[in-house]
Amino acid sequence: MSEENWKFEYHQIPKTLTESFKELFTGYDEGLVRMEPGGFVTSPTYAKHAEKIYRMKPRSEDVWLLTFPKCGTTWTCELLWLLQNNCDYETASKTGLTLRTPFLEMPYLSTKMQTMREMFMNVDKVEQLPSPRVIRPHMPMYLLPPTLLDTAKVVYVARNPKDVIVSYYFHHKLIKLHGFTGTMDEFAEFFMDDEVFNAPYFAHILEAWSKRDHPNMHFMFYEDMKRNLRGEIEKVAAFLGKTLGEEELVKLTEHLKFDNFKTNESVNNESGKKTGAFNQEGNFIRKGKTGDWKNHFSPELNSRIDAWIEKNLAGTDLKFVTELEYQD
Ligand code: A3P
Repeated sequence: MSEENWKFEYHQIPKTLTESFKELFTGYDEGLVRMEPGGFVTSPTYAKHAEKIYRMKPRSEDVWLLTFPKCGTTWTCELLWLLQNNCDYETASKTGLTLRTPFLEMPYLSTKMQTMREMFMNVDKVEQLPSPRVIRPHMPMYLLPPTLLDTAKVVYVARNPKDVIVSYYFHHKLIKLHGFTGTMDEFAEFFMDDEVFNAPYFAHILEAWSKRDHPNMHFMFYEDMKRNLRGEIEKVAAFLGKTLGEEELVKLTEHLKFDNFKTNESVNNESGKKTGAFNQEGNFIRKGKTGDWKNHFSPELNSRIDAWIEKNLAGTDLKFVTELEYQD
């Protein structure tokens, strides 16, 4: 695909304008749209601005963190920023993560929430940031600048779909932009039908998986971070060409541990409650476990999800870990 060639169109998903959908997702004023080709689901406001992101100029000093939502974006982002900035904990504690590492599409997600625009950097501002930049979009690779992988370092974090569904359900309850009022069962059906923000999940992961051997790509799993955080930090550091001494490695591992992360105001997004973007109940840094789905899925729902996973992984060599014998 040439850089000049923007071939994407979008259309409204009719169901998302119905009263019953609006009662379940109270945050969407204009429903959701699907971009084609590819079927990416987003807001009309984002779809209008998507080409601006596609035409950004990646730099060789950049690190782009690519994720489907709830796969450990915030966690990995703090790690990447610290590695790229000589483990400068002082700046990290003073400046919120969203100001240090722009969330590309965030200012374009909704016309409704003005706070979004103030909290997040638009593309023009991101283009002016000094290097080294750590940039995190949620959209799939095919909607990002075509030169990205050949130019910048790319880190992709994947997480098993069962825990993603649970985490995304709570996210949709917490964040007013979504304002989900339904049940876990209802949410899981929307998820499997590719009718939630940033769907489809499998296409997102499989596209990156197919590029995992590119020298500029580091593909990692949330579950491996839960199993051996220190080991995963070492691998990412090596990928970025950074060397950490024993003391630095211990400190960074400790800094990124769930309990420390949860109380760290620079990364935990609790400010969303003050700005009014979040509901008061729930936390962005929520549970941080692999296998929490077992506390939330009925046997029937779990069987439907298993069948859906099997269908989508058929013919691929991607395998997910959905439970761990040992985790932090
Ligand atoms: P849960 O909802 O399962 O707890 P993202 O940043 O991509 O939105 O992902 C959020 C998920 O990552 C949430 O999952 C959150 O709790 C988890 N998470 C964030 N920081 C973490 C950490 N330090 N250790 C483990 N999990 C973490």
